[in-house]
Amino acid sequence: MKASVILAHPYEKSFNHAIFYTAVDCLKKAGVLVFAHDLYAEGFDPVMTVDELGKDPTEDPLVAQYARELTDSDLLVFVHPNWWGQPPAILKGYIDRVIRPPYAYDFDENAQGAPATGKLTGKTGIVFNTSNTPEERENNYFHDPLEYLWGRCVFGFCGMEEGFTRRMFRVVADSTEEIREGWLEEVGLIIERVLEGS
Ligand SMILES: Cc1cc2nc3c(=O)[nH]c(=O)nc-3n(C[C@H](O)[C@H](O)[C@H](O)COP(=O)(O)O)c2cc1C
Repeated sequence: MKASVILAHPYEKSFNHAIFYTAVDCLKKAGVLVFAHDLYAEGFDPVMTVDELGKDPTEDPLVAQYARELTDSDLLVFVHPNWWGQPPAILKGYIDRVIRPPYAYDFDENAQGAPATGKLTGKTGIVFNTSNTPEERENNYFHDPLEYLWGRCVFGFCGMEEGFTRRMFRVVADSTEEIREGWLEEVGLIIERVLEGS
């Protein structure tokens, strides 16, 4: 089994980094081949180029590597904070530049108007998020846009309607060290559960 684990957070002592390291560690201990990427540390450029608007393969070697690993992975793990109900811009750029034709989906040129054909079918997705909004306000006022973004717009669109797990850890600003340790244990348990089911 292979897994891509993608982190979008600029501060190396963030709780998101702790989630990322825990996830990578659990996967490696379970014998999974892990492609782990800290997008900020790797200097990923999130700005899509005009050449990438079509379906030609990218000429950016880092994007090509991420895309190769994404399509090669059975498990796709994304770790990021909730920033304005969205992923940080660097991860939005990863979605734009990597989760695109010809890698993650394609259009049938002979069937105009037909929905795209997802090319990530059969893979499993896990998203770990953090936020500072209580659950009740997130669900009832903001309507949890990240659930829709990942579940429908990204994974669903690319053929992964099933096999998607998301966990939002909150409220990080009010959390104690003990609570955060418990959350990291949960990261391990979620990964174990997903690996058992695959
Ligand atoms: C630019 C920016 C936007 C943010 N927007 C939100 C938001 O919309 N909702 C929310 O609950 N928290 C928001 N936050 C707070 C972060 O989600 C929070 O700091 C983070 O999840 C904590 O995890 P960390 O310690 O790993 O950074 C925002 C933080 C920043 C820097």
